[in-house]
Amino acid sequence: MGTARRGSGAYERAYDRDRLRRFLSGEAVGEGISRRGVLRLLGVVSASGAVASLPGIAVAGPAAAAEEPGAPGIVKPLPAALLTVRGTNAETNWAALRDTGYHTPVDRFFVRNHTATPLLDPARWRLTVWGGGLRGGAVEFSYADLRALPAVTTSACLECAGNGRSYFTTQQGDPVTGTPWTMGAVGAARWRGARLSDVLRLAGLSPRAVDVMPRGLDAAFVTGGTDHGRVRRPMPVEKALDDVLLAYEMNGRPLVPDHGSPVRLVVPSWAGIASVKWVGEIEVSDRPLFSPWNTVFYRLFGPAHPAGGSAPVTRQPVRSAFELAPGAVFAAGRGHRLTGRSWSGQGGIRRVEVSTDGGGAWRPARLHDAPRPGGWVRWSTSWHPRGPGPAHLLARATDTAGNTQPARSVPNEQGYFFDAVVRHAVEVV
Ligand code: MTE
Repeated sequence: MGTARRGSGAYERAYDRDRLRRFLSGEAVGEGISRRGVLRLLGVVSASGAVASLPGIAVAGPAAAAEEPGAPGIVKPLPAALLTVRGTNAETNWAALRDTGYHTPVDRFFVRNHTATPLLDPARWRLTVWGGGLRGGAVEFSYADLRALPAVTTSACLECAGNGRSYFTTQQGDPVTGTPWTMGAVGAARWRGARLSDVLRLAGLSPRAVDVMPRGLDAAFVTGGTDHGRVRRPMPVEKALDDVLLAYEMNGRPLVPDHGSPVRLVVPSWAGIASVKWVGEIEVSDRPLFSPWNTVFYRLFGPAHPAGGSAPVTRQPVRSAFELAPGAVFAAGRGHRLTGRSWSGQGGIRRVEVSTDGGGAWRPARLHDAPRPGGWVRWSTSWHPRGPGPAHLLARATDTAGNTQPARSVPNEQGYFFDAVVRHAVEVV
């Protein structure tokens, strides 16, 4: 992923290099992770995890949304007009984003659950911060403690690294494993919460701290016969002190269960796995930390990547989507307004070009938002299709770091980071 590194901070590049070296030299082994284990798992990462019951935590059941096509473990209704269920997850339908404004309404925001949404009581919830990267012992925060800290509001996209995965197969013919998302595993929300940096300093962050690893309170993730434990993934202390939130509100309301109630991390610009939901503890370490989510999962494996896999994925690539259903129908001989959005984890979006003839001619779309790191840009253009027949609509974005969506995405076995221009099939009648 040559382009994936552009726009990253110097500390991120150094971190990537260091973690890659450590992983390849076998240092990560011991967390139930080995190269053999990685290979064994690659074939089964899409399998749904078993849900172990945890003391004091209710788990959402499959009956939560009786009349809707349910996803096991998701609490909110999943109307087919807004969301498409994929295993334990639900994908936003792009046609349902038209006219919704900048922020994705919670009713249609995608859900990515490794297991099931836990139902947690804010009054009983505690966050424990602990580890060798603190000057003293463990420190506990209640929900009221977090609410009493200075509140920060930020608009940021949240996106799964595997967003667009199905196009590796349907558009490029590359076999990949994992949830077959189209492009709806992304949303933008207005998040409000406490700065992780404030919490870490109050907990007694020491200058020796290197890694910060939040852990969720959802059930352990079990797949392919391996229990990976609870969702957790380390990040460098520099990122934790930079722009990370411990969010308790989404779009002006307290978080709902599926999106991390009562408190989740929001790690702007990074792969969604960093934004741990239902956070219950944070380990602050004076040595590098490893978990299945930065060793087995969320690395790039395959012939185009280093033997043994890439560094753990961090910043998201550039992507675009039309606010249209697949196979949308347009009347010939009249004008239509095409709308869509583009985003990148490596900077704001500064240019979007659209082709309505399958990639022959390109023209600039009109941008409706200023380029902003961590956010997306809404755009529009007009289209006057002449004769009836099938057509392909394409949108290609360029970010402020100079990354442009390619015609073909470099494949990797688990199908992360599909950044190629999507050929959106429509019908003119
Ligand atoms: N945190 C926990 N505890 N458990 C999870 O399954 N999924 C991660 C992340 N945080 C996950 C988690 C992934 S892969 C993504 S893309 C985002 O949450 C999705 O957030 P959302 O469900 O609020 O859209």
